Amino acid sequence: MTTTATPVTPVEHRLAAENITAGYDQRTVLRELDLHIPEGSFTVIIGPNACGKSTLLRSLARLIRPASGQVLLDGAAITTLPTKQLARTVGLLPQTSVAPEGITVADLVSRGRHPHQSLLKRWGREDEAAVREALEVTGTTELATRAVDELSGGQRQRTWIAMALAQQTPILLLDEPTTYLDIAHQIEVLELCTQLQREGRTLVAVLHDLNQALRYATHVVAMRDGEIIAQGAPETTGTAGLVEDVFGVAARVIQDPETGRPLVIPKASPK
Ligand SMILES: Nc1ncnc2c1ncn2[C@@H]1O[C@H](COP(=O)(O)OP(=O)(O)OP(=O)(O)O)[C@@H](O)[C@H]1O
Ligand SMILES: [Mg+2]
Repeated sequence: MTTTATPVTPVEHRLAAENITAGYDQRTVLRELDLHIPEGSFTVIIGPNACGKSTLLRSLARLIRPASGQVLLDGAAITTLPTKQLARTVGLLPQTSVAPEGITVADLVSRGRHPHQSLLKRWGREDEAAVREALEVTGTTELATRAVDELSGGQRQRTWIAMALAQQTPILLLDEPTTYLDIAHQIEVLELCTQLQREGRTLVAVLHDLNQALRYATHVVAMRDGEIIAQGAPETTGTAGLVEDVFGVAARVIQDPETGRPLVIPKASPK
């Protein structure tokens, strides 16, 4: 009898959920879900309220432990990774966060550097530079000395984004990064995501604006009722059929005159 060596599976995806069932106490939200985040992609998750988008991101960031199945980072179960190693690799911008009372913007953003520090490696020039850059690209430099709880909704959102950026992780998970932002700041944040992706990082964002999803994503994941019902390139996922399936909304899809990508236009209700 001959024995065959176990084949070594090449790791094509740094971050993947395999057959995960996850939720909260009695409520199962995700059911046997598989998702492989293409490395180097800007993946955008779309889907109706309460379908499980945030639950999925939290599971990918190990804030929720799946009841079954596992999340893998570079082929290893994330449950086995030391917290600091995980925090240096995967960053999460939660949908909502509460800042410690009275904390300044600069101090909050600096907290993004904690995973990079240790007894041997105290705060240094690298940390200073990372914070400065994060403040700069989010347009929060001039807010640095302000208290976070005294900011406008959009200013606060940009501060949280800055904190996630200061972490300088190769993988960044952003749960509705454009909430509270005006159109100019929305575009800035999405273009920043594209820039980071082009520099080699992997981004996963939840967005509610379908046209922004289709314009900026390299990979679209459509969810409904805790399941992934379609995924792929924006050109193949941005269809009227999918909008109807996912949201129950009748729409036309035309070509975005700016980008050539699909542009979703909801049909007008009959008068
Ligand atoms: N902490 C929690 N405890 C119990 N149930 C929760 C908790 N957080 C979310 N849920 C429930 O889990 C389901 C999925 O919620 P989730 O936040 O993942 O949805 P979502 O797709 O992100 O929605 P939205 O677009 O509104 O942000 C919902 O039914 C929600 O009520
Ligand atoms: Mg959510």
